[in-house]
Amino acid sequence: MDIPKIIIAIDGYSSTGKSTFAQRVAEELGYIHLDSGALYRAVSLYGLRNGMISAEKGIDAPALVAALPTLDITLRPKVFIGEEDVSSAIRSMEVSSVVSPVSAIAEVREYVDSLLHRYGDRGGVVMDGRDIGSQVFPNAQLKIFMEADAEVRAMRRYRENIANGITSSFEDVLANLLARDAADSSRKVSPLRRAEDAILLDNTDMTMDDQMVWLKKLLSEKYGFEFETV
Ligand code: DC
Repeated sequence: MDIPKIIIAIDGYSSTGKSTFAQRVAEELGYIHLDSGALYRAVSLYGLRNGMISAEKGIDAPALVAALPTLDITLRPKVFIGEEDVSSAIRSMEVSSVVSPVSAIAEVREYVDSLLHRYGDRGGVVMDGRDIGSQVFPNAQLKIFMEADAEVRAMRRYRENIANGITSSFEDVLANLLARDAADSSRKVSPLRRAEDAILLDNTDMTMDDQMVWLKKLLSEKYGFEFETV
């Protein structure tokens, strides 16, 4: 197998399966997977735990921004705050309901972007998020933009929540993802948008295996990757 070490950027709407797909791509190619949404979620969790974000008072952006230089968030590839693995805690509905406004703070975006560059500059990475191809790595060699019907996406996230022991109703999950899509697309700083050179992947009716076949075909035909099996 001849596998070049390129940068692959995967962007798209909430719960289109970007992270699951990116993780599988990383395993197949021997790449590192960087989940940028997980970093925004970790910043949000930190803010919730340290009184900078609360249901009553909202987000104290100056306090959160002031804390950023002291934040010790790492991807190993699971997400850690200090020595604590917070991979499950960042998926709670509490975090989901505040992460969009947190990710709209310019300084938070700079912080996350600097982490992504620290891990990703050398290539051999697959990153997923909302603005990777358009903003963070505009020179990524391959950009993919993922879409799927909203109800299909909500059902996937709802099942994932159940599997992770997170209590939520299907209606709440659907409402949250529609609200996040609207907020992420309309914010001033780095809004969610498809980069002009991103290739569309609508996976409404596709399994993970279908998506991998699609990707390997693309990598072989357009990027000269050589796989033993496609
Ligand atoms: O992919 P996710 O649902 O875990 O992302 C959580 C939030 O983080 C999402 O609502 C928007 C924000 N996000 C972002 O603004 N830019 C990124 N590159 C990734 C995520």
